[in-house]
Amino acid sequence: MKIQDFLTEQWMNEHERQAKINLTDTSAAPLSVDDLEAFEPGFLKGLTLDYGWITGDPGLRQEILSLYVDQREETLTMTNGALQANELVMNILLKPGDHVVTLIPGYQQFSEYPRWLGCDVTEVPFDESNGWSVDFDALEAEFARGTRLLVFASPSNPTGTWLDREQTRQLADLAARYNVWVLCDEVYRSYEQDELSISDIYKKGVATGSLSKQFGLAGVRLGWVKGCPELIEEVNVFRDYTLICAGPLSEKAALTALRHKNEILRRTHQIIERNKADLTVWLKSSSNFSCQLPAKGTVSFLKIPERLSSREFALDLLDETGIFFVPGWCFGKDGYVRLSLGREFDDLPGVLKTLEDWTEQYLDRKNVAIS
Ligand SMILES: Cc1ncc(COP(=O)(O)O)c(C=O)c1O
Repeated sequence: MKIQDFLTEQWMNEHERQAKINLTDTSAAPLSVDDLEAFEPGFLKGLTLDYGWITGDPGLRQEILSLYVDQREETLTMTNGALQANELVMNILLKPGDHVVTLIPGYQQFSEYPRWLGCDVTEVPFDESNGWSVDFDALEAEFARGTRLLVFASPSNPTGTWLDREQTRQLADLAARYNVWVLCDEVYRSYEQDELSISDIYKKGVATGSLSKQFGLAGVRLGWVKGCPELIEEVNVFRDYTLICAGPLSEKAALTALRHKNEILRRTHQIIERNKADLTVWLKSSSNFSCQLPAKGTVSFLKIPERLSSREFALDLLDETGIFFVPGWCFGKDGYVRLSLGREFDDLPGVLKTLEDWTEQYLDRKNVAIS
């Protein structure tokens, strides 16, 4: 069976370079080598570019383990980004015919990849009318069918849905009752006190993570899987066939960043809060857009005027203003575009005014075209 196109990736690939203002990126403002150099001058000096440590530099492993409650060595392995971490875990846990549940709108890898593996995939919608919350009753109804794996992201892309500590426990209890594996992609985690990793409280809870989003280091391609030792052992077997190692350059950059995680995460937090403040002011006055800004994560889902095709809207907006969005269409959910919360903008209020004014004119043009 041929795997379907990954629509958001293709959209980014086709249109991102045309963007003058990227209002849709999922990563926080990226860091540079110079930023890392400022943290630790000469951090790459003398680095030998062999394969390095196969399952990860010991110092880096310690830094990543320190992000979790369960810090046992055998619960962690390194990958090239969270994307590969998810792929390895699904490959190991799933076989054709298994029932997989995922939450939509969500990251396409979670539905398409298991489908490609021959699994029976059920997409459970987030509750749109209740701030894109998780519908636990719907999940339970699916689990009762004999689900092998629930796979989703928290915080989520694109809705920003985030399970707090209590909800994470609720999910772990529910999954335990039905003996379901839970793969929670925690790539958008900000590692604050009020967060809890599914891998820290549930034997069959697997977390994946990376430095791509909150750390602004997507180009480092450093991710990981955190799970029970038995699963990690199996991931390591697959790793030998698919990646060998993350590589010393990436590992050194990752180690340097993680040693300074508090500064980096504080910077990201400040950028997000600044953007949210500007967005809140704009949303109050906007007659065309609405959005429930999420508590966590670097993205949210912005509702565009009714009856517009999100794809056409995003293309016309990009052509005429240079403002770039990924349309909800890429997530199978028209009527929305994905809104970035973590990028640095010179003048976000000005950009939002351009967006509002252009949309007014666009709607007028559309009305004329219809009448
Ligand atoms: C939910 C989710 N998981 C994984 C990724 C990819 O992460 P990485 O860059 O760590 O491979 C993305 C990127 O957009 C994402 O949204």
